[in-house]
Amino acid sequence: MNIQGRRLIGTTISVVVLFLGLSAFSAEERPTARGKELFRDHCAKCHGLEARGKGMVPSLIGVTERMSTKAIAAHARMIGERMCCAASIKKLSDENFSDIVEYLETLHE
Ligand code: HEC
Repeated sequence: MNIQGRRLIGTTISVVVLFLGLSAFSAEERPTARGKELFRDHCAKCHGLEARGKGMVPSLIGVTERMSTKAIAAHARMIGERMCCAASIKKLSDENFSDIVEYLETLHE
């Protein structure tokens, strides 16, 4: 193979590697991916990993149609204040809550 052929293959490989790297990175950075992680860390122990609710704790599927992001954040913060095992919720910012809500919007029955 001549030198141009090798360069072409080299360039193609670099582009593919770069593309794979970028797509992995952007998946990581997507709000729903961040929201899912935040939900898992701060909400799932009561609401369940799939937000379907457990025992006395209601399902959050479809909650975004009934409640605004502000109302959801306020509700969760109140729980964070009142229940010792939910104290980590107090650390969440408004931006964290918008990510959580974006994740909840992706869930359906
Ligand atoms: C310690 C357990 C616990 C944790 C952790 C928790 N919740 Fe809840 N959540 C509850 C309980 C219990 C209720 C129902 C009682 C109530 O509405 O006050 C509830 C109700 C809600 C409601 C109202 C649902 C409705 O249909 O009215 C929303 C919204 C909500 N939680 C969001 C969240 C979010 C978002 C998180 C994480 C940031 C979270 N909760 C973490 C226990 C928890």
